[in-house]
Amino acid sequence: KTPDSWLPRDPRLIRLTGAHPFNVEAPLTDLFDEGFLTSPELFYVRNHGPVPQVQDEEIPDWEFSVEGLVEHPFTLNLRQLIEDYEQRTYPITLVCAGNRRKEQNAVRKSKGFSWGPAGVSTALWTGVPMAEVIRKAKPKRGARFVCMEGADELPNGNYGTSVKLNWVMDPNKGMILAHRMNGEVLRPDHGKPLRVVIPGQIGGRSVKWLKRLIITKDPSDNWYHIYDNRVLPTMVSPDDAANDKSWWTDERYAIYDLNTNSAIAYPAHDERLKIGEPEATYTLRGYAYGGGGRRVTRVEITLDKGKTWRLADIDYAEDRYKEAGRQKLCDGTLDIENQEASFCWCFWRLDIAVGELAAAADVFARAMDESMNVQPRDLYWSVLGMMNNPWFRIVIHREE
Ligand code: MTE
Repeated sequence: KTPDSWLPRDPRLIRLTGAHPFNVEAPLTDLFDEGFLTSPELFYVRNHGPVPQVQDEEIPDWEFSVEGLVEHPFTLNLRQLIEDYEQRTYPITLVCAGNRRKEQNAVRKSKGFSWGPAGVSTALWTGVPMAEVIRKAKPKRGARFVCMEGADELPNGNYGTSVKLNWVMDPNKGMILAHRMNGEVLRPDHGKPLRVVIPGQIGGRSVKWLKRLIITKDPSDNWYHIYDNRVLPTMVSPDDAANDKSWWTDERYAIYDLNTNSAIAYPAHDERLKIGEPEATYTLRGYAYGGGGRRVTRVEITLDKGKTWRLADIDYAEDRYKEAGRQKLCDGTLDIENQEASFCWCFWRLDIAVGELAAAADVFARAMDESMNVQPRDLYWSVLGMMNNPWFRIVIHREE
């Protein structure tokens, strides 16, 4: 029995850290087959410890505080958050900073567990812009950060981290306090009953089971803010990192915006391809995302290790929500028609003759964003194995 035994979980999910805590991703093809929106059943989960148990009847009374460097600190319950504020709905992709870490661990073991490329999922999130709640508390002069703390009890205290107050107050950053996911109450694994959702940044900043928002002068001093979600310089070994705290307290190495990334879902890695008619077309397919609200502007595929590239077609499913305009969706108002940023993954496809594909030893994909941030050829190893985004490679086997 584990602390989460009360929770039903989908058997298709791949467990990455044994029985407990629950850290899972779906098989990449299953995730991809779900399309633009991921069902709560297959949405990746990253839990540092036990899931707080909250009964449905307790949801309206769930309280959280807004405190710290503010003129009017207050506590608010979920009933008030829903009744006193306009509810909005946004499609947002969350990505764990450890997505694709398995490839780093294969080169050299990092301190993190091996995520495949399915540590990413998308949902329609309903809630209230964080800025509206924080504005009511009136941040004082000198306030620069918003620290967020969850209710999960962990060996080093509650899970917590921080982001800049400037970002939170910027409507183009789209940071929200969410209580619904695809029109349902949040599932326990995803923060029931209330969580932060921060688009374009690593999932680790989107605090689940939210209990406190603390406005501060300095970044969070929470253990998980300092010892997690960082890319230390590549020469820092696990021993160096364990022996010298100054590597961790250097805020320059903390990660916020995601980096540009992509993956190939079809064919699957190590798939056996029946050739049949070599002229027939095979449609390669996969996903891509950018960081910090930047749009992916191209996805390129090479069959000859980067000598020549082909341009894939991209479907920006997010834009269909923008074109739909303001409307009621999942108990909130869809509110992205004037949103210039891109907060979701996109899907790409490319037709290739089966014979040509099967003749290639391997296939690589790379994406580029609107600021020309392109996935690098080589990986950047670091002690926590985060933000891994080199060209995505699959090997296929020819079957006569
Ligand atoms: N919030 C709390 N309270 N506890 C956690 O363990 N994990 C973080 C973040 N928020 C975490 C948390 C990490 S590392 C990620 S990637 C996302 O939640 C994952 O969100 P999900 O499980 O809903 O996909």
